This record gives sequence, C-alpha cells and structure tokens, in this order.
Amino acid sequence: MPKAFVCGHPVAHSRSPLVHGYWLKRYDITGSYDAIDIEPERFSSFLRGISGNDFIGGNVTIPHKEAAFELVDILDKAAGKIGAVNTIWLEDDKLFGGNTDWSGFAANLDSVTPGWEDASNAVILGAGGAARGILYALIQRGIPDIRIVNRTRLRAEQLASDFSDGTAYKISVFDWSAQLAALQDSELLVNTTSLGMNDSDTYVPDLTPVSGSAIVSDIVYTPLETPLLRAARESGLKTVDGLGMLLHQAVPGFEKWFGVRPEVTPELRDLVLRDMGSHR
Ligand code: ATR
Repeated sequence: MPKAFVCGHPVAHSRSPLVHGYWLKRYDITGSYDAIDIEPERFSSFLRGISGNDFIGGNVTIPHKEAAFELVDILDKAAGKIGAVNTIWLEDDKLFGGNTDWSGFAANLDSVTPGWEDASNAVILGAGGAARGILYALIQRGIPDIRIVNRTRLRAEQLASDFSDGTAYKISVFDWSAQLAALQDSELLVNTTSLGMNDSDTYVPDLTPVSGSAIVSDIVYTPLETPLLRAARESGLKTVDGLGMLLHQAVPGFEKWFGVRPEVTPELRDLVLRDMGSHR
C-alpha cells in the first residue's frame, strides 16, 4: 500500500491529510497520507529512513522546507531556484525534492482569474521564503515588471539579486514606506507576509493607486478573508484567497505518489472550509 506523509513541527494544524484523504477516497485508491511531527534535530534521520518505513514520499512543511532543500539527492528546477522543497518522492532509490508552492499559486489564479498572467506588472509584499515561490511563479508566467516591497529592504534586495539573471523581466525594490509608489497602476498585488493572520494585524496598504482592474491575492488563508482582501473587495477589486493555493499545491504530489492527477473541486474546498470552521 503506498504511504505518504506531511512532516512539520508543529504539524497538527495541517489540512494536507484532509485534502489527500479526500482524494484517496474519491479515486478509490488504497493508500495512506498521515501527519508526522518531526523536530528539527530529527529531520535528517527521518528523511534518510523513509524508504525503510515504506513511504513513497510526502510533503515537507514549516520549519523543514530549507533543510529538505539541502538534504535531498536531486532537486527539480523550481526547488533549486526557490531554495525550498515542499514535496519529496523516491525514484530509483534516490530522494527527489520539488517545489509546488509556486505552481499551486499559479494554478489557483488560472482557475479563479484566468488571463491573470497578462498583467503588465505585479507587486509582492514581503521577501521571505513564501515570497521566493511567488516571485518564481510571476517570472515563469512572464510578468515583465515585478516590484518587491519589504519591511527590511536588504532582504528584498537580496531576493531581487537572486533572481537577477533573467532578461525578460525587471525587478524593483521599494521601501515599506514607499508602498504608494510601488502600487502605482499595479495590476496584481500578492501579500506574502504574515500580516493579516492575527486579529491584531489590521494594517492594510492604501489601495488607491492600484489599477481599477487589479487582482489582489493573499497567501494567508486563516482568516480566509484577510483585512487586505476585505479592503480590496470593498474597493471593487478582484480578490483571490490563499486556500486555493493550498489545494492546488497538493495536486502534483498526489499524482507522483498515487498515480492519479486529482482535481480541486468546490466540494474539496467546502470540506476544508468546514474543517476551518469558517464556512461561508
Ligand atoms: P515565510 O517563509 O512565510 O515567507 P518569513 O521568511 O519569516 O516567512 O518571512 C515573513 C515575511 O513577512 C517577511 O517579508 C517579513 O518582513 P521582514 O523581512 O522585514 O521581516 C514580513 N513581515 C512579518 N511581519 C511583518 C509586519 N508586522 N509588518 C511587515 N512585514 C512583516
């Protein structure tokens, strides 16, 4: 029986077992997908032991994504560039590491706001690990003008410089206090910071300068409608919540481990929403 896992620390909050469990049932596959809490000190021995434990692969989540990048035998192109692995699988006795966060982000926009990649520019709020995946996605989809705004400017500059090898796009860095300039006529805005996750985070950038047809997206999905998404909706802008990205990033892993490309359905979304206790 194929066995897969999600490992993290903590991991109890992960919705991945619910998502993969739904697909296993829906496609009538005899297999398992379980959450395993692994402390950072034990992560490397856990990875080395997965074939002996009959696992075929799994997901890696916070705080292990960078460690997995260092430890796998072979990286896919995206993981190599992003510097983080969220999906691993065994193939020919080798441990492969891939990154599906970026493709999950893109696939979700494809489904909710088709044509989004025609945007002539995009703004990324944040420059941490999550921002790297989003930047990779925007570059892959051909957004020519990408603006990074981060509280710590140096981090944004580092990120821009790590991706400075392309010629088809331009990346500019803005101070946190220069958001108005960064947002001027922006057509796609993606929040990758943790702002909005806590009730105390009520900060929302001034959306006045963005284009009237802009898409505003947040990778935070608890709450589903962050203060940023609420402000965008109230300004008549298109909004894309973070739950879709979570569901879509799971698709390639399931296909690798269990051999069926699963579908992200409204029923699956409802199932996860009910689990989050915020069905709407
Ligand atoms: P992740 O892997 O989820 O991206 P991270 O690497 O810790 O996590 O990055 C968190 C991001 O949220 C960073 O861009 C961080 O800004 P700094 O680089 O200045 O730390 C941003 N962030 C977190 N809290 C913030 C706050 N209160 N205001 C503005 N930005 C914040």
